[in-house]
Amino acid sequence: EWDVVGLWILAYLTGSISSAVIVCRIMQLPDPRNFGSHNPGATNVLRLGGKKAALFTLLGDMLKAIIPILIGYALDLHNRNLGWVGFMAFIGHLYPLYFNFKGGKGMATYFGALVALSPLLLAFCVITWAVTAFFSRYSSLASLLSSFAVAAFGFYMDHRYFFPLFAMFLILTWRHRQNIKNLWHGTERKITDKKESDR
Ligand code: G3P
Repeated sequence: EWDVVGLWILAYLTGSISSAVIVCRIMQLPDPRNFGSHNPGATNVLRLGGKKAALFTLLGDMLKAIIPILIGYALDLHNRNLGWVGFMAFIGHLYPLYFNFKGGKGMATYFGALVALSPLLLAFCVITWAVTAFFSRYSSLASLLSSFAVAAFGFYMDHRYFFPLFAMFLILTWRHRQNIKNLWHGTERKITDKKESDR
């Protein structure tokens, strides 16, 4: 089982690479941790630097989960272990080794895990995310609802990865606690809203 443990560690290490910080540094943008929601994620980079920077951030954060899971397929890992490889990349994104353990909220890395684990759940998640974001203009609400939908309905569609996906939903909700408070009070910033306020 050393291949499993090794891959979990590798996934944590790739997950720890903050695409948001690196993309902003390369594109000579301000640090996303000092701007808008202060979150080093694709949504906040969109507010800061526009669509191209956000897309690179999104893809980079997705790859952090996709690559170790693909290695897991090559090593013939059991499904149960593959799900937890995605989970470890997600944990790396939230608590990055190279960035003082202060990372993002995990949605893009969660998407990446779904890309590699289950195209069916990915489609379900993306549609729920896009519909919610289109109508509400809140990225956080879209992330919360779509990860809940995957946990709730995913079981019936593709239950192979239920436990890691459910764990990620719980942790995503915890990481979005300030967003939830803002949504409740009607002060949440919309996807493209640059206002500077609470975190
Ligand atoms: O996944 C991050 C998103 O759900 C919320 O980001 O910057 O609006 O707090 P932000």
